[in-house]
Amino acid sequence: MAQKKITVPKLISYKSKNKKIVMVTAYDATFSRLVDRANVDMVLVGDSLGMVIQGHDSTLPVTLDDVIYHSRAVSRGVERAHLCGDMPFMTYKVSPEQALQSAGRLMQEGRVESVKLEGGIEMADTIARLTAAGIPVVGHVGLLPQSVHAVGGFKMQGRNGIDRVRIIEDARAVAEAGAFCIILESMPLELARTITEEVDVPTIGIGAGPHCDGQVLVIYDMLGMNEDFTPRFLKLYGNLGQTIREAVDEYAGEVRRGEYPAREHSVSVDGSDQSSDNRIYSVSPDKTPVH
Ligand code: KIV
Repeated sequence: MAQKKITVPKLISYKSKNKKIVMVTAYDATFSRLVDRANVDMVLVGDSLGMVIQGHDSTLPVTLDDVIYHSRAVSRGVERAHLCGDMPFMTYKVSPEQALQSAGRLMQEGRVESVKLEGGIEMADTIARLTAAGIPVVGHVGLLPQSVHAVGGFKMQGRNGIDRVRIIEDARAVAEAGAFCIILESMPLELARTITEEVDVPTIGIGAGPHCDGQVLVIYDMLGMNEDFTPRFLKLYGNLGQTIREAVDEYAGEVRRGEYPAREHSVSVDGSDQSSDNRIYSVSPDKTPVH
């Protein structure tokens, strides 16, 4: 285990220390290495991969094998951050036994250190079962993207009093069942504050205002790569969509004009390029690709 590894007990302790938890999603080793080096606390292999990686309009088509595949890749880039994997639609709601089997595969094959599942009171038995088996669980209440058709779209939750009471009870049940932290998605900031004050475990918000114990964003969204996705809660911390388009456009122009590759990017048979090294690509001892 890396020396400064972020463990579950450490994450739980952040709440009493008033230390915010920083979580982002990642779906491959390159991004996970970068976000790990940026010192995030938690990396989530979210089933949002259904949208940002696979191009679906919801998370429903994502399979357990998909999350396992991406988690394995992400795990190779993460040293310090805690790695959590999402349980996809219909891989844990049939029964606690089904959830145990899915979570077991996600940890063994996907190398994640905890699993996330959506739902409130109805998931309490399952969460208790998983935690009793030594599987750390991240809860998720409020907007549940896997229930998008039942609630009629990706909508803000807790707009009326009855909904707010239900979401608070959901969060309480999830915490009491043993979840070590809870995602609060798309709800008014006052509701997120109440839940954060009421439960003993850290809350991590997305579209839930500033009073949560931490925040999570989908990495492609916050970096401006998902250019058509502009919800109110999202702040852009980069403009990689534009950067990528401009870089590829420049490359295309240079290739078409015959400017790339230039002499310095090429090797000649007589060695006049002064390159004594025959490698064109190798992996350094710390696994950083060297070109
Ligand atoms: O799938 C996901 O990325 C998520 C986060 C947005 C919390 O559930």
